[in-house]
Amino acid sequence: MLAFYTEHGISPVSQDISDLARHLQRRESLYRLLGLPSLLFEGRTILEVGPGSGHNSLYVASRKPLGYDLVEPNPKAAAEIAALYDGFERPHTRPRILLTTLQDFTPDVPYDIVLCEGWLGNSDADHRLIRKLGGFLRPGGVLVLTFVPPVGGLATLFRRLLTLRLLEGISDFETRTQRLVEAFGSHLATLEAMSRPHRDWVQDNLLCLAILGQAQSPDRIGATLGEDFAILGSVPGFQMEWRWYKALFGPARDFNGVFRAAYQTRLHNLVDYRLAPTLREGARNGALETLVGQLFAAILRLEVSGATRPSPEIADLVALIRDNLAPDLPAITLGIDEVWPLLGQARVAPAEVAALPRFSSWFGRENCYLSLQKESA
Ligand SMILES: C[S@@+](CC[C@H](N)C(=O)[O-])C[C@H]1O[C@@H](n2cnc3c(N)ncnc32)[C@H](O)[C@@H]1O
Repeated sequence: MLAFYTEHGISPVSQDISDLARHLQRRESLYRLLGLPSLLFEGRTILEVGPGSGHNSLYVASRKPLGYDLVEPNPKAAAEIAALYDGFERPHTRPRILLTTLQDFTPDVPYDIVLCEGWLGNSDADHRLIRKLGGFLRPGGVLVLTFVPPVGGLATLFRRLLTLRLLEGISDFETRTQRLVEAFGSHLATLEAMSRPHRDWVQDNLLCLAILGQAQSPDRIGATLGEDFAILGSVPGFQMEWRWYKALFGPARDFNGVFRAAYQTRLHNLVDYRLAPTLREGARNGALETLVGQLFAAILRLEVSGATRPSPEIADLVALIRDNLAPDLPAITLGIDEVWPLLGQARVAPAEVAALPRFSSWFGRENCYLSLQKESA
């Protein structure tokens, strides 16, 4: 990802902050849902790794933490953050911008809160970095991470397959970006609350390879951090905690186990952000998550190979995923049935993609959040 950003001299992660009050309230809502009310930031020491444009950091800075460190290795992003704070007029704590990677960063003292949003994935190297982040916290401190649940990324996988066909024979980066905005702009326009420019979204989600290596179950993050970390919250929320608090001591607390079980029976809802959540058999969802995870890997291999048409392996996986979803979520299969024939056409034009009646408004929950508290010794 970093190589892609620096190669093209971009930082395609900006937010619409033209209505600053709205932007700050969105961030407040996110942290509230994760179990971090605004008070928790005040007077604390906070680290954020990979803040990108820095737009999201404005909320944390405005809560006046004692100290706020931003670790950002992309020089373009670091320069944008500095300029952003020069013009930020609300009372705030000005962050220290550290132009370095997480790999090369070692803090002097532990932090109360560590935030890392939108880039760590499922490789072993990334899991070593997740463990490293956990080591930066003091006991009782809170870690906020994002993850791409495979099922939440399914709609994007179909857009990536369409992208390969749409960009056949086009190598210029700006022309590629424009063509994708033309094809997918009408899809993105259906997301009323979207706050990222369409250009940024297509560059980050459809042109950059990174997302294909990010899909993973939150179970894996839990396993990496171990029992020293207990899940505090998630966005979206998976469980309703209905246990009597007086019974929650010793091994019975098991916050991670309760979260895992809730995730397993609800993960199918991630497939479309418009769904009202239902429950489904865990084994069926486990199979779905595995299949979509395999589809992520197969599309990564396809893109790296330079091929532009779905391989037989991808066709088989799509058929199995469709079969898994069909009994409970027939509306999703209608979207798949629109895209699949298009992918086999001699040529695919942006106008055809833009006009897909069912598929165009299908987006999954691909950017999910976890907050975890480091157990006190
Ligand atoms: C997809 S952007 C997310 C930006 C922001 N956190 C957000 O959610 O809008 C990923 C960010 O991580 C940064 N990044 C990538 N590799 C990194 C590394 N090894 N160490 C620290 N930051 C990294 C990128 O430069 C970029 O700013």
